[in-house]
Amino acid sequence: MSVIILGIESSCDDTSAAVIKDGLLLSNVIASQSVHEEYGGVVPELASRAHQQNIVPVVDTAIKRAGISKEDLSAIAFTRGPGLLGSLLVGTSFAKGLSLGLRKPIVDVNHLHGHVLSHFIRREDNDEVPEYPFICLLISGGNSQIVLVRNYNDMEVLGQTIDDAAGEAFDKCAKVMGLPYPGGPHIDRLAAEGDASKFKFAKPHIPGYDYSFSGLKTSFLYMLRDAKKLDPDFIEKNKADLAASLQRTIIEILLDKLKKAVADTGVKQVAIGGGVSANSGVRQAIADFCAQCRLKAFIPERAFTTDNAAMVAIAGYYKYLTGDFCHYDAVPYARVTI
Ligand code: KG4
Repeated sequence: MSVIILGIESSCDDTSAAVIKDGLLLSNVIASQSVHEEYGGVVPELASRAHQQNIVPVVDTAIKRAGISKEDLSAIAFTRGPGLLGSLLVGTSFAKGLSLGLRKPIVDVNHLHGHVLSHFIRREDNDEVPEYPFICLLISGGNSQIVLVRNYNDMEVLGQTIDDAAGEAFDKCAKVMGLPYPGGPHIDRLAAEGDASKFKFAKPHIPGYDYSFSGLKTSFLYMLRDAKKLDPDFIEKNKADLAASLQRTIIEILLDKLKKAVADTGVKQVAIGGGVSANSGVRQAIADFCAQCRLKAFIPERAFTTDNAAMVAIAGYYKYLTGDFCHYDAVPYARVTI
């Protein structure tokens, strides 16, 4: 009999629902929240209210687009954490209510596992999935981690950021340049037209596989502050070169530790995930590195890089197969590691 999983994601500012049948994606609906734009960052209280408004139509659309009825579902998977507590509560409560109404089990999913396992979402035209063990570089607005993935439920964080995440480095530097939030995609766009070797910024010297991005942010900030004193139009005149140089530095920092981890573990496959894995420069750098070292690269479709319920549904699918269900007294958690 087929296993059909509804996934629900509400950890931050995207309300998403997806349906997966035996690992194959049937639908993936995402409602993004524009309400935060004017604040330059996600406002938690506004995010949870928007989730409440969005969740019923988003789930309904995902079920309809999948061509199933809700009675066909085998289980409901939901993001339990990490994320914003109020936002997570909406998805968790909705999943519990639907589960009680339909008499179907619930499966709780660690959002970070979802990002890693997004490479196992099969599509009609793409059913190539990684083989264990592999390394996943998980880079988002809240995390920068090198994860050794031995199985769907056996992941080890080899290294992670000790301060800012890679996405924060993009966003905070973009803010200093006067770009809208989130700045990552704007830097990406500008970098395509800039000279990446024009400016040099500080790079961290952290032992092991850990990352640090706060020094880069500070060095960027001071450089711009000093340059603006001499020429108030400095940023405007050098926008593209600044973006390209910043992006190059972030990629170098990311790749440096990743290469070390790959060499030390001897894995043959490398995946990337999380919002920053949408970055064109990061994607190219990973593809080049893997080609050079004869490694298989797994670079997600852009739709699966940011928060989406398809990754929650696939992570829930694997837990379902082993009967790893969740109780109704489960509460969301704001912080949790892999
Ligand atoms: O995984 P994600 O959607 O959620 C959180 O961690 O909250 O990641 C969001 C992050 C933001 O920092 C955003 O600027 C960054 O991913 N991002 C990018 C790009 N697209 C999204 N950074 C660089 N280049 C991009 N194209």
